[in-house]
Amino acid sequence: MFSTAFLDLPALQGASGTVTLPGSKSISNRVLLLAALCQGTTVVHDLLDSDDTRVMLNALRQLGCGVEVAGTTVTITGLGGQLKHQDAIAFFMGNAGTAMRPLTAALAVLGGDFTLSGVPRMHERPIGDLVDALRALGCSIDYLGHDGFPPLHIGPPSLKVDAPIQVRGDVSSQFLTALLMALPLAAKEQDIVIEVVGELISKPYIDITLNLLARFGIAVQREGWQRFTLPAGSRYQSPGTIHVEADASSASYFIALGAIATGDGIRIQGVGADSIQGDIRFMDAAAQMGATITSGPNWLAIQRGAWPLKGITLDCNHIPDAAMTLGVMALYADKPTTLRNIASWRVKETDRIVAMATECRKLGATVEEGPDWITVHPLQQGQWKAASIHTYDDHRVAMCFSLAAFNADQIPVRLEDPKCVAKTFPDYFEALFSVAHARPQDIPVICIDGPTASGKGTLASRVAAALGYHYLDSGALYRVTAYAALQAGLTLEAVDEARIADLARTLPVRFEGDTVWLGQADVSDAIRTEQAGMNASKVSVLPAVRTALVALQHSFQRLPGLLADGRDMGTVIFPDAPLKVFLTASAAQRAERRHKQLISKGISTTLDSLRADLEARDARDSSRSVAPLKAAQEAYQLDNSLLSIEASVDQVLTWWQAKQPF
Ligand code: DC
Repeated sequence: MFSTAFLDLPALQGASGTVTLPGSKSISNRVLLLAALCQGTTVVHDLLDSDDTRVMLNALRQLGCGVEVAGTTVTITGLGGQLKHQDAIAFFMGNAGTAMRPLTAALAVLGGDFTLSGVPRMHERPIGDLVDALRALGCSIDYLGHDGFPPLHIGPPSLKVDAPIQVRGDVSSQFLTALLMALPLAAKEQDIVIEVVGELISKPYIDITLNLLARFGIAVQREGWQRFTLPAGSRYQSPGTIHVEADASSASYFIALGAIATGDGIRIQGVGADSIQGDIRFMDAAAQMGATITSGPNWLAIQRGAWPLKGITLDCNHIPDAAMTLGVMALYADKPTTLRNIASWRVKETDRIVAMATECRKLGATVEEGPDWITVHPLQQGQWKAASIHTYDDHRVAMCFSLAAFNADQIPVRLEDPKCVAKTFPDYFEALFSVAHARPQDIPVICIDGPTASGKGTLASRVAAALGYHYLDSGALYRVTAYAALQAGLTLEAVDEARIADLARTLPVRFEGDTVWLGQADVSDAIRTEQAGMNASKVSVLPAVRTALVALQHSFQRLPGLLADGRDMGTVIFPDAPLKVFLTASAAQRAERRHKQLISKGISTTLDSLRADLEARDARDSSRSVAPLKAAQEAYQLDNSLLSIEASVDQVLTWWQAKQPF
């Protein structure tokens, strides 16, 4: 997951490959609640692991359900319609509407002493229609802040279920879903009827609810979309085991990717055209815009068809979440695209009509908007603008605007607060980068070269962490090579040059955080000694060894970018890197730092001998015939003798930012 302040997406060119998507949020949270209300145990496979499901799982634990998590398989032991204890419980719902609404209904029917609150945005998301319906049923619910919005307090009910319960259907379908899931608790002696007032929006989500209720033994009778009856004697029954489909709304980004990007196409694993999720119908809209889509059980394959895409006018009431993705596809179309009947966008994680309009305009597009519609005009080559996309703590804004990186002007796109995707798809960007291609010259490399013990490693890895970039410690490759050569019984001299080079060419080295693996062996400590550094310096003067390590070093240049540290990153390995830094510190300073480091590890040494070693290595690294240690001509010099690590990091980030178009 990217927890950086922003993520810069380089200009992307094409995409191909397979993505396996995380489980559906809508299905996951419904299944969790139904499993909790059941008697007995339900094993849920492929559950989404995200902020919203964690909110639900925490709530279930607080209620006294058994919750066992093993990867994406979660075992829930239900309450059997009965609370385990009567203590007051305060639930924190974050910004998870799919947890807040159904839990409110279930808790209100169960009764107790509960408070439900969330993040500030949750306290702006309406819940009044659901509360009204529950109050009419005899539930005791009080507003703790503003009328009509969370936070709420729930007390014990005195249920009266003889009259039909009315609920508005035109603000959020989650109100009806909440009632449908909670009311079986009350349908013991007699039928319970729910009547929808106003036109029901987002009907496909009700289909998911009915489908899952059926899986849990509740057969709801429905007359059109107006009247729903829970038969007397309804009882939740665990299906024992249940699989969660991949999230069809998450699939929309990869369907769009297949439609926009050149390449061999995208295959999506985990969800197919026969999905129970309404957002799967996004595939029809994408096909209308030009995508070529084929599907089988549990998979979709998408290829670019019409290009440019075709602008469309579409009633999006049936695919409210995925429709945002159409808004960004519209930028690549031949004429404007109008998305209609999307009033629900205004009450989601953010006001999504405002968000889409504002951010598309930043990219250069003309956008018109009304109370429940938006028109996005396409952008031609030459019209795209570099933009820093604000994401409003809305996962879908972040994910759909990542598709702007395929723009014809090859302009990078900055996404602010990329971690907001964690709401439904924590590894979204990893999945995107696993299939998207960029031209090598568009994947940024920042080089930090300098002498030994100048603090390159710390600086480079901190800058990499701040930008979400990969990190290459090229010195470690020379250290591992020397280590492997000695293990193989070779000397580190020119006589063995060809054989050391052979070893280096196929070095089975892997970096995992701070751990360095050579094949199955953890060599992290072995290659970090002073002697190992000296050995590395020896093999690094051999030209054939340096050549053998070039391809391996280049392979670290991957999306979204790279921080490379060493001696010749800027001069030889990445000569076109857009930022090169040459780090220096006085020999005295460096010896002192290294001394402190070693002492803290309990290794005894003297300052003088360390300084002599450093100077010997500097001399060898700077005087060798191939790729000697020196600053690239255009490198920024950074003497960090008197700087804190934070100050050095800030300096490099400032230089980097000055080169960005945002
Ligand atoms: O950065 P370091 O101390 O881990 O590097 C160990 C040795 O490897 C260094 O003395 C010279 C060599 N080296 C190199 O020649 N080129 C690089 N890009 C990195 C390291």
